[in-house]
Amino acid sequence: SVTAVIVVAAGSGERLGYGMPKALVPLGGESILMHALRGVVAADVARQICVAVPKGDTEMRELIADFTVELVDGGPEVSVVDGGSTRADSVRAALAALEEGTEFVLVHDAARALAPERVFQRVADALAAGAKSVIPAMPVVDTIKTVAATSGAGTEIAPEVVTGTANREQLRAVQTPQGFELATLRRAHGAAADFDDQQSASVTDDAMLVELLGVPVHAVRGASQSLKITTPLDLIIAEGLLEGPLG
Ligand code: CTP
Ligand code: MG
Repeated sequence: SVTAVIVVAAGSGERLGYGMPKALVPLGGESILMHALRGVVAADVARQICVAVPKGDTEMRELIADFTVELVDGGPEVSVVDGGSTRADSVRAALAALEEGTEFVLVHDAARALAPERVFQRVADALAAGAKSVIPAMPVVDTIKTVAATSGAGTEIAPEVVTGTANREQLRAVQTPQGFELATLRRAHGAAADFDDQQSASVTDDAMLVELLGVPVHAVRGASQSLKITTPLDLIIAEGLLEGPLG
């Protein structure tokens, strides 16, 4: 079966705060994007890799062109598309560019630059075993509560009040690569194309769009190394992973 990997790298990296797209930020002497692409190639699950880069970018396109030259014969085809203004828009742009005959697709955040090969393989294995949708997930270490803004008289003690505590045993922190039957993911993203701004803003991964179709989403074990580099602290952790025994 033919599998493609979409790498979404079109974000601006506001929270990391480097004043450049996050995928270009250096990590252990190389860009976050290059780590992510090397990881995808090493996992050896895909015939095609499609990278969504910021519209107007030239730097990432050059890095990807140089990287493609390094790939050995028989390695994956690498293509590049302009991303969109939301992550889902970037995924949609890449979905439109996949080769005819692709059966499965893995969608991966460039920001999860150190995701281990075994996680890609677990996801690919679940697809091969018949799952239409599969995500890597981790147990949650913090207690998670829901809150609401306080309003009205006598509520000025704090800006928020707790409305509930989720049962942590049933919670998972979700990562990428997330794997899908291509036709299912295209249908899910097609349905989301008409979302209003508020609905669009609430879309944080691909699997939730598949959930909305009523298609079962399966969960396999993720990895701590797959952390999403979001804040400066995450970058320090990622640097440590590269240098330390887990790197
Ligand atoms: N992404 C994308 N297109 C967008 C927004 C995000 O391809 N319009 C990608 C990012 O490049 C990243 C992944 O989606 O690899 C997860 O997004 P996030 O961690 O939020 O990255 P940024 O949006 O770049 O960061 P921030 O939200 O802090 O600006
Ligand atoms: Mg973002």
